[in-house]
Amino acid sequence: MNQRILLLGSGGRESALAWKMSQSKKMEKLFIAPGNGGTEQYGENVALSPMDFPAIRDFVKANGVTMVVVGNEDPLVAGIYDYFVNDPELAGIPVIGPSEKAAQLEGSKDFAKGFMMRHGIPTARYMSVNADNYEEGVMFLRSLEAPYVLKADGLAAGKGVLIVATLEEAEAKLKEMLGGMFGKSSATVVIEEFLSGIECSVFVLTDGNSYKVLPVAKDYKRVGEGDTGLNTGGMGAVSPVSFADGTFMQKVTERIILPTLNGLKEERLTYKGFIFLGLINVKGEPFVIEYNVRMGDPETEVVMLRTDADLVDLFEGVATGTLAERGLSIDPRYAVTVMMVSEGYPGHYEKGKSISGLDRVTGSILFHAGTKRTADGLVTSGGRVIAASSYGDTKEEALAKSFDAISKVDFEGKYFRRDIGFDLK
Ligand code: AMP
Ligand code: GLY
Repeated sequence: MNQRILLLGSGGRESALAWKMSQSKKMEKLFIAPGNGGTEQYGENVALSPMDFPAIRDFVKANGVTMVVVGNEDPLVAGIYDYFVNDPELAGIPVIGPSEKAAQLEGSKDFAKGFMMRHGIPTARYMSVNADNYEEGVMFLRSLEAPYVLKADGLAAGKGVLIVATLEEAEAKLKEMLGGMFGKSSATVVIEEFLSGIECSVFVLTDGNSYKVLPVAKDYKRVGEGDTGLNTGGMGAVSPVSFADGTFMQKVTERIILPTLNGLKEERLTYKGFIFLGLINVKGEPFVIEYNVRMGDPETEVVMLRTDADLVDLFEGVATGTLAERGLSIDPRYAVTVMMVSEGYPGHYEKGKSISGLDRVTGSILFHAGTKRTADGLVTSGGRVIAASSYGDTKEEALAKSFDAISKVDFEGKYFRRDIGFDLK
């Protein structure tokens, strides 16, 4: 079937999804809402907010949209899947993503931890604390060793996790969080045991029965080289991840992927979309740090390069429960992405800087994140501006291509990390 797809979101992740979908033989028309200054290469930008469900409804009906792909978590946690299913005029249009209840795996850390407990999925020991059991929370903190992990239960735009060095500070932060540091999102706080290890991101696409595992990636969240400084949305990513070998992935499948999918079924949580497993490798054993109900950003900017499949065909499989019949293989090459960001990010930064040199880049794929087209040309419009993604037979070869691409792109205050992938073989 020829699909008319509406993709929701505006970041580098959506650029990479749009790039991949636009290569599909099954794609008739792609709309991106709202998209960015680069997504028009792949489809038509539409000025709609992913959170404005009634406006999305009108657009879908007026434009013969046959499928909705959701890039970011907010509409999923707000229930866009159910909004479509429960509307007789939209019910036939599949939404790629989980139901509102299943999206709680990302929308509530407390829910996610409870789910993992119920299904024996390895994760850090924890306690959920609110105003009613604050004293017990303090006792739990005192039973742990430093450093201390405090997580706002609800969505906090990726900023709701604090890792603090001393007990004194942890107790103070717990109080602040419960007192509204992250608004309602931290009315409940999940206190966790700190796990020491190296992280990776595993992406599973499921139709609710069968599933496919996409290439494993690792992202680099800190702004500074050597993983120092403030957390960002992600400064770069690599795939494959050397330690995620056959033995490790077998453990991930047996201990995490299968129990997660079985748990969803047992609890009747409808899930037809991407599951993002944020894992940590503790001496060879995988533990879940977090679930997300969407793809990662900037992981998608490498995962799509190595996904050897027709993405729209996979989404049809998800929508119709026939994912098992669809083909997916993994490109053996390395893929890396290096994010160009605005000076000052993730703190204060300026927007509206003119971007030039894109047409001089030939060896890399430029996925726009925070860019905008104006009458004066392309300008920056966000902290993360453009991701330079490249293939290579080695990680080093791929990185060299991305750095070469970055050297050709110019905007005032351009910053990037030169050490993406530094901790992997
Ligand atoms: P999250 O939003 O849950 O992914 O947490 C953000 C980051 O905090 C993760 O990517 C980890 O680097 C770190 N983190 C979260 N939970 C833990 C934990 N229990 N032990 C060690 N690091 C953690
Ligand atoms: N790169 C991590 C995330 O998308 O949450």
